[in-house]
Amino acid sequence: MSSRISARISAISESATLAVDAKAKAMKAAGRPVIGFGAGEPDFPTPGYIVEAAVEAARDPRFHKYTPAGGLPELRQAIADKTLRDSGYQVDASRVLVTNGGKQAVYQAFATLLDPGDEVLVVAPYWTTYPEAIKLAGGVQVDVVTDETTGYLASVEQLEAARTERTKVLLFVSPSNPTGAVYPREQVEAIGRWAAEHGLWVVTDEIYEHLVYGGAEFTSIATAVPELGDRVVIVNGVAKTYAMTGWRVGWLIGPSDVVKAATNLQSHATSNVSNVAQVAALAAVKGALSAVERMREAFDRRRKTMVRMLNEIPGVLCPEPQGAFYVYPSVKALLGKELRGRRPQTSAELAELILEEAEVAVVPGEAFGTPGYFRLSYALGDDDLVEGVSRLQKLLSEAV
Ligand SMILES: Cc1ncc(COP(=O)(O)O)c(C=O)c1O
Repeated sequence: MSSRISARISAISESATLAVDAKAKAMKAAGRPVIGFGAGEPDFPTPGYIVEAAVEAARDPRFHKYTPAGGLPELRQAIADKTLRDSGYQVDASRVLVTNGGKQAVYQAFATLLDPGDEVLVVAPYWTTYPEAIKLAGGVQVDVVTDETTGYLASVEQLEAARTERTKVLLFVSPSNPTGAVYPREQVEAIGRWAAEHGLWVVTDEIYEHLVYGGAEFTSIATAVPELGDRVVIVNGVAKTYAMTGWRVGWLIGPSDVVKAATNLQSHATSNVSNVAQVAALAAVKGALSAVERMREAFDRRRKTMVRMLNEIPGVLCPEPQGAFYVYPSVKALLGKELRGRRPQTSAELAELILEEAEVAVVPGEAFGTPGYFRLSYALGDDDLVEGVSRLQKLLSEAV
């Protein structure tokens, strides 16, 4: 008898991030004062001028109809202009595909590039969606594991050690979710040149491009390494930069053949992205970056507070991230210690104990391919942040 669920779909794992989130939400619903560091979204509302553009669009009958699957022409042009403004990367609007969030861009990029058995180099810790998108496309993920000693940055030597004759794609993410690591320009160039030399494709996720702190600078590998030529696919979106996670607008930029093929796929899967959301995204990418700058300043303040407070906890080692809105401390030194009558052996067990005992939700490193760590988002209000980390300090200092 054939199985009810296809092998392809049953191979998709439940998201560990969602499991923590579901438990935290259930506790909150039961009236417990849970503080959540799990969410990957800004706590700010979408700026008013973007919302207003969407309200007007909803009233315009033109937007009540199907529009081209690849995106509204004016949005594709604005994304091309924005890419030149922010990354110095010159691209024709015909090479932009508007997607339902960066997530759909990730799925379509891998679906379009990978044949069964093609290998993709993925730097771990990695965002939870990549492995599923690669697997679903028949690709084989090859991990390149990094840790806090290099600030979670991969070197060319590490990448080269993982390369085989089946390697087709390097996935390059900077700033990174979950570590907040930002590659310095020289390292971006070195990695890009290495990829070009070996004829690899680079899929680069630039969704956190505007969230960098201190002296760190975002460098687009597409611009920094022109030798990559027509083997670069950029994934991006409005979610993180403009506090627009719920609007679901992202994009993919690539060579004409890839964009055409991915558009064909999207035309059958979802057709055009909601027109109202596309018009909101148009206002966002055409507009100034001042709202982003205000959010960035708040994130920067919270980042410093969180790193300082976490490093005060014996057994927690928290490198200072330079981008996105996550910290990724090692909690390895706490594993196996006694805490409230239990002895958690893994970061997943420790996260569960913390949720029960301190009513604080963190995502364990298991979700990102590297057990022994936690990911905490600092995209939440300053008071909650301090209260949540204080609870962690109190609980974890009891470990013996
Ligand atoms: C690294 C990274 N890429 C892409 C996305 C996708 O964002 P969205 O689909 O909301 O545009 C996320 C969201 O968490 C992310 O962290």
